[in-house]
Amino acid sequence: MLEPIQKLKIRYEFYSIDELFQPKFDFARIRDDEVFVYNNYFGICDEQVNKVAAKCKNLIVDNSQAFYSLPLPGVDTFYSPRKFFGIPDGAYLYTDTLLDESFETDISYQRFEHLLGRADKGAEEFYTVFKNNDEALNNQPIKQMSKLTQKLLSGIDYDTIAAIRRQNFDILHSHLKEINKLKVNIELGAVPMTYPLMVSDGEQLKQKLIQNKVFLATYWPNILKWCDEKLLENKLTKEIVFLPIDQRYDEVEMKSIIEVIENV
Ligand SMILES: Cc1ncc(COP(=O)(O)O)c(C=O)c1O
Repeated sequence: MLEPIQKLKIRYEFYSIDELFQPKFDFARIRDDEVFVYNNYFGICDEQVNKVAAKCKNLIVDNSQAFYSLPLPGVDTFYSPRKFFGIPDGAYLYTDTLLDESFETDISYQRFEHLLGRADKGAEEFYTVFKNNDEALNNQPIKQMSKLTQKLLSGIDYDTIAAIRRQNFDILHSHLKEINKLKVNIELGAVPMTYPLMVSDGEQLKQKLIQNKVFLATYWPNILKWCDEKLLENKLTKEIVFLPIDQRYDEVEMKSIIEVIENV
């Protein structure tokens, strides 16, 4: 997220969030030539996006983790479909500010090895390949989505995937809400990216789940280095375990994740 800002030498500052992922920020400070970027964290913050949009001018919404959340009229919003589906690259931008420029179309067939390998032999063996392909996306100019990515995205059954993700999320939430220190309160139609479970012994639980071959994502480990230890962001990073709910899994996997957690 910082890459384009730094590349264009745009001045920026970070803001804090509260335990509901809401910005702690005085929106009156935003000048006409400044923007405020808000992230729809884990695809569970539609309500927070609405609230921010009601009081904040020049808002950009980062829906990278909320593929299924619709953009708000007039609010520039971007999406990263590779977080939700088996594609290596590509993004969507919703905006009414059109540029009078055309961009080269990306070529992505060489970035598929981790996806193909993962399907055949499992994610573990191809993690390094994934990391390399991920890094290859750094420092790219703006490009149009590749034809291959477009083709794959046009063949996806979006409704079925949404229903599976939502069902997996609901199973985890119904069993874990009592121990979850986060108030997870999502809207009816929301389709989250992951189930965030916050527990005091988050680090220990992560290790236990990894030992049981539950593949866990980590988001923004840099926060531990960048933020004061006393800040809530630091605590959130340490204590939230991001449980997988994606379309490769169903009730059986969700129940076995719950079993591991209940037996810690
Ligand atoms: C919140 C958020 N925004 C933006 C991005 C960038 O997405 P991409 O690397 O697909 O461009 C990420 C990727 O991790 C993200 O988590």
